[in-house]
Amino acid sequence: MKTTLSFSTPAELETESLVAIALDHAESRKDHAATAKKEKPQLQLAAGDAAVQSVSADLLANGELAREAFEVALLHKPAGFKAKRLLLISGGKAKKFTSYDLRRVAGAAVRTLKARGIRSFAFIAPSGIPAEEAVRAIVEGALVGNFDPDYYRSDRKNEKIDALTILASGNADHDALEKAAREAQIIGESQNFTRDLVTEPSNRMTPTILGDRAKKMCQETGLKCEVYGADKIKELKMGAFWSVAQGSDEPPALIVMTYEPAGAPAKPVLGLVGKGITFDTGGISIKPADGMEKMKYDMAGGATMIGAMRAIALLKPKVKVIGIVCATENMPSGKAQKPGDVQIAMSGTSIEIINTDAEGRLVLADGLFYARQLGCTHLVDAATLTGAVVIALGYVNAGIFANDDAMYDRFHKANDEAGEKMWRLPLDDEYEDNIKSTIADIVNSGGRWGGAINAAMFLKEFAEDTPWIHLDIAGTAWMEQQKPWIAKGPSGIALRSLVEFVKSFAS
Ligand code: BES
Ligand code: MN
Ligand code: ZN
Repeated sequence: MKTTLSFSTPAELETESLVAIALDHAESRKDHAATAKKEKPQLQLAAGDAAVQSVSADLLANGELAREAFEVALLHKPAGFKAKRLLLISGGKAKKFTSYDLRRVAGAAVRTLKARGIRSFAFIAPSGIPAEEAVRAIVEGALVGNFDPDYYRSDRKNEKIDALTILASGNADHDALEKAAREAQIIGESQNFTRDLVTEPSNRMTPTILGDRAKKMCQETGLKCEVYGADKIKELKMGAFWSVAQGSDEPPALIVMTYEPAGAPAKPVLGLVGKGITFDTGGISIKPADGMEKMKYDMAGGATMIGAMRAIALLKPKVKVIGIVCATENMPSGKAQKPGDVQIAMSGTSIEIINTDAEGRLVLADGLFYARQLGCTHLVDAATLTGAVVIALGYVNAGIFANDDAMYDRFHKANDEAGEKMWRLPLDDEYEDNIKSTIADIVNSGGRWGGAINAAMFLKEFAEDTPWIHLDIAGTAWMEQQKPWIAKGPSGIALRSLVEFVKSFAS
């Protein structure tokens, strides 16, 4: 999707469709009487332009566009406009409308129009949001909306918006807006790159293929990339990673991507570590058949790190970053590890395997330790790590864990800027009891209660005193249902926050 900025007046622009946002300005009444009628929505355009306002006035006044966000009304041949159509899209309550909502509205506009055979349109930036922030949100949201994962359907329509024009407000700094649009384009495309990787089923996205895709991306963007196999994993004494890999006929891949821009200070070195389980059967502690097909997305954390490295390579912040993905299948076989086995991680920590389905923390244990050995001073990992985080936070917020408050604050700020929802969960010392073993240092499964925390407590052992963030994206990396702004399937969650976070370190 090509993106251009325009500063012309909407009426003058030739386009297949203009898009304007309508917001509801009605005060919601705190009237609990059963008979109380809902106040009529008071829709007003979020665009200041007088011509757009007058051409849509009747439609808004008639209440044909209800106040629910993402509802649409399409006007053909709007009088006095060069545009063929005008799409009005509801953004919900004016009071609550932020760039978070704007991203979604832009995505919903893309999905509405591309389904109607339209290939290019012009989006009028709303006046209530600072111009740069609005441009970012529109570009990122539109790219997210433009993605559909129906790759292997014979009737694939491959509907896409090819060109997006953003009508920005004329008095903004044009260069700053162009820069915002360019950066947002890189970020949105990288998010879709990640979603591409996650979409692929496990027979088409083996650890080797994931490594090849990372290599290709690194070649294209000028990153250094190494992909190691079983020999190197054993040589490094990654006993935790190998304990998962040993059960599969597919060779594992340890992917290391390095971004070292000229002029970056020696420190910090940021380490992005991703769980890359290309299929999680559970191993000998095998999962039930129902829904197991979804476990092809158990490499979403790894794919997110590869996509984030792509964005970083193209955005060129002046800070060193190392991306590490521990990729393997988790399979039952005659060579697979068994419950009760004891494994020695690269750090020397001994681990009693209680449940072979708690494999993500095993591969990450060695990934995190290795990142520190490579000199990382700050660590972030992303993983579809536990079903328990879905119980705790549902499909709305990703779980975020931190061993360092300053690191958390920085990441939280990045979340806000990126428009991604994450919620912090605790790591109190008391939880340590849950991962104690009688035979070894720790167990790999702390049981059901507080399952997402137990998993994070396990990882914390390997981050040691390095400032570290753990993102449990099990509930958010995959959209169970399509939404007006996004297709069903991989979401690409966390990539935008990661990129904002990395940028925050750049001088
Ligand atoms: N990949 C799963 C977690 C998962 C569950 C991701 C649902 C996405 C959706 C992980 O490897 C796993 O199996 N975790 C176990 C841990 C348990 C055995 C301690 C879980 O959550 O049940
Ligand atoms: Mn598992
Ligand atoms: Zn898993």
